[in-house]
Amino acid sequence: MNIVEISKARYTTKHYDKSKIISATELEQLLTVLRNSPSSVNSQPWHFFVVDNEAAREKILPAIADFNRPRVTDSSHTIVFCVKTPLDEAHLQNLLAQEDRDGRFPSADLKEAQDKGRHYFVGLNSTTPEAQFAWESKQAYIALGQLLFAAAAIGIDSTAIEGYDSAKMDEILGLKTQGLRSIAIVTLGYRDPKDGNAHRPKSRLPNEQIFTFL
Ligand SMILES: Cc1cc2nc3c(=O)[nH]c(=O)nc-3n(C[C@H](O)[C@H](O)[C@H](O)COP(=O)(O)O)c2cc1C
Repeated sequence: MNIVEISKARYTTKHYDKSKIISATELEQLLTVLRNSPSSVNSQPWHFFVVDNEAAREKILPAIADFNRPRVTDSSHTIVFCVKTPLDEAHLQNLLAQEDRDGRFPSADLKEAQDKGRHYFVGLNSTTPEAQFAWESKQAYIALGQLLFAAAAIGIDSTAIEGYDSAKMDEILGLKTQGLRSIAIVTLGYRDPKDGNAHRPKSRLPNEQIFTFL
């Protein structure tokens, strides 16, 4: 499939075939896409919880809105997207050390500049805890978009889910003590052939309403 075909093939799956499980190889590929997702100043402000078994599904289910529960119970995997609250100095130092190990700094000056630049942008976007949370969430949503597209590219169906109780999810997963907050969910698997949404046409505003060439 070319990129246009992938964008058309991806759709929000409402009903999954519970008997079909994503292979370990494909899951690994999708997790790699998440890991390689870009983020402002390489902040990687995220953590992902992977739900791949019945007990874990049952555990998070009370936080899922009723209408969304079949996506979680019948899909192969559920990923809970979280961001770090706060994005603290320890995380910034962790990033710098990783970039160093990964060979990003041919000179000490470059390392210092990267650290300084990152602190500057994190500071700009951290005027309040809520502002920081919103900025981190934007980064995590980029990863979410990449995941949906990548899944479709390898024939895996998906659902982005905001319809859940984030406070309840955070409580169930004990996120506060881990310095995390959940922001969204993605379910992954294979559509039920009878999923009505698969057969409805896509609906999008026309080009002239959303693009302006300057
Ligand atoms: C961030 C986000 C949250 C969403 N939350 C839900 C949800 O809770 N439940 C659901 O069934 N669909 C959810 N959707 C799916 C949208 O309704 C869907 O993407 C949109 O109607 C376009 O349809 P398509 O994805 O099939 O092209 C969500 C989509 C996004 C991007």
